[in-house]
Amino acid sequence: MVRIVELDKTTVRMKNPDHVRGIISSIKKDGVNKLQVISDFDMTLSRFGWNGRRCPTSHNILDNSQVITEEGKKQLKDLLHYYYPIEIDPNRTLEEKCPLMVEWWTRAHDLLSQQKILKGDIAQIVKESEVMLRDGFNEFFDQLHKNNVPLFIFSAGVGDILEEIIRQANVFHPNINVVSNYMDFDDDGILRGFKRPLIHTYNKNNTVLNNTEYFQQLSTKTSIILLGDSMGDLTMSDGVTNVKNILKIGFLNDKVEEHRGKYLESYDIVLERDETLDVVNGILRYTF
Ligand code: C5P
Ligand code: MG
Repeated sequence: MVRIVELDKTTVRMKNPDHVRGIISSIKKDGVNKLQVISDFDMTLSRFGWNGRRCPTSHNILDNSQVITEEGKKQLKDLLHYYYPIEIDPNRTLEEKCPLMVEWWTRAHDLLSQQKILKGDIAQIVKESEVMLRDGFNEFFDQLHKNNVPLFIFSAGVGDILEEIIRQANVFHPNINVVSNYMDFDDDGILRGFKRPLIHTYNKNNTVLNNTEYFQQLSTKTSIILLGDSMGDLTMSDGVTNVKNILKIGFLNDKVEEHRGKYLESYDIVLERDETLDVVNGILRYTF
């Protein structure tokens, strides 16, 4: 019988607890050598809120930084207020959302590229931001590193920013691989655009992974723990060549009541307004 006290937290919801316990014991039985973790970054590894305030996404860190003009800030905020409700609208289909997400990311990236953002400023921009990793992040990153478990961070955020966040937190270990939107700087170190392919909330699948070489190398890692906060994160593991056990854990941060049904159908474990990595750490501790 799987005994993980963290699963008793009031933030935890499961449609089928027996099924969850079955997957966890199967992951443990197959051993740590078979395990890989695939995770989203913004609002999954980073906090959604703190002290009643929203925490920034990797994009917001740039949007709010001192290097953006007041006019630029206003335009970026207008985009956020227009497109974010569309992103999380449970009543719109993926087909409806995808082109609008491409539009949001493209317009935001164009605005950011018109500002004077220097490569050399990134570290300071992150230092001055209000970003926070979820409580328990040290144990999470360190456990995976110590046990040689590959961690794939698949993010529609800004790669340069999220890498800097985990670097400044001293947890950017060699077991980590990141796929995200990376900035394109010119020879003078000024931001000119973003590298392709564009990754948005709803194309986080193998269409944006270069012939999924990463997952091919990990073909023996047949146990997967997937961490996300959006319905779009569920396809992050599509490129995995061999899946035996997969445990999907979803952070439900916003509009909880409205989204609960869908999240419970799609994620094995749903964590409601839980700003910690306690449950994930508890499961990892048990399986190691
Ligand atoms: O890492 P993740 O895939 O979660 O990153 C995407 C998040 O960044 C989305 O949830 C979206 O709300 C946010 N975003 C933003 N500003 C943009 C584009 C996306 O805050 N311009
Ligand atoms: Mg996210």
